[in-house]
Amino acid sequence: MPTALVPQFVHEPGPSLLREALDVEYWEADRPPPRAELIAAIADADALMCQSNCRVDAAVIGAAPKLKVISNVAVGYDNVDVSAATDRGIAVCNTPVAALHEATADLTFALILASARRLGEAERYLRAGRWTHWSPQLLVSADVHGRTLGIVGLGRIGQAVARRAGGFGMRVLYTSRRRNEAAEDALGVRYVPLDALLEEADFVSLHVPATSATRGLIGGRELRLMKPTAFLINAARGAVVDQRALYEALRDGWIAGAGLDVFDGEPIAMDDPLLTLDNVVLVPHVGGATLPARQAMAEAAARNLLAVLRGERPFSCVNLAS
Ligand code: GLV
Repeated sequence: MPTALVPQFVHEPGPSLLREALDVEYWEADRPPPRAELIAAIADADALMCQSNCRVDAAVIGAAPKLKVISNVAVGYDNVDVSAATDRGIAVCNTPVAALHEATADLTFALILASARRLGEAERYLRAGRWTHWSPQLLVSADVHGRTLGIVGLGRIGQAVARRAGGFGMRVLYTSRRRNEAAEDALGVRYVPLDALLEEADFVSLHVPATSATRGLIGGRELRLMKPTAFLINAARGAVVDQRALYEALRDGWIAGAGLDVFDGEPIAMDDPLLTLDNVVLVPHVGGATLPARQAMAEAAARNLLAVLRGERPFSCVNLAS
């Protein structure tokens, strides 16, 4: 029987589906294993199922002579050295399931609302016992409804965010590698180049993967193009934003605020200067953290892995032609 290595916790039905057909080495730890342990254990594995915080680089792949598939329980796969896998003919699979797109779009909207309406600050204010009297000047904030949303990357998550914006009466601009005229008609969104989007949007929301082309896409120049009243929302990947430039932009008022679910380096260090600012809402990479999304991704990852081992077409493979 082929062997699958699952070196960290995965929701059901992922592990059970694998056990029906494979020998499964399942370590239920809540975090990825130390690198040396992963390298030792992967030597016998035909398949690996891992989460997006498990680094699968060329050395790990090099230590796995029998490996045929790396099945990531995530839509993003920037933790995997895809070209090293492709060179060895190893399939890299991900889980672009609707439950994850919708959950991430919900969290994106939560960040839009929380940053515009200063919810983090408001909660800290109340809990600190500072609410001594009500005042019309208390925590006056920005509107969300009727404002302009700029979506960077109109993939499935970007489109799910655009649908929600309709309910808030927002005007939606987007930018993307390719224009998507079908989505423009269906969602009533308008294509503009990135710079125009940055100049016009009240909320700039990022929905691109982390690749060599998108690393640092939003840096000092881009943040200076944004309006001083605008907000940056990132529930995609931290590497897309130059985090030092974002800190300066928030500190010096180039932009009004930000809502961040992802960071360049996770977990964020507790001495990161972003934590000293009130005009940024920070949450710990929980865009996909609903139970239905976690379960749907686990199932999709198990099915991807089994399909590759059976020589069938996986639901989503990012490198090899299937
Ligand atoms: C979450 O960040 C994912 O890539 O699925």
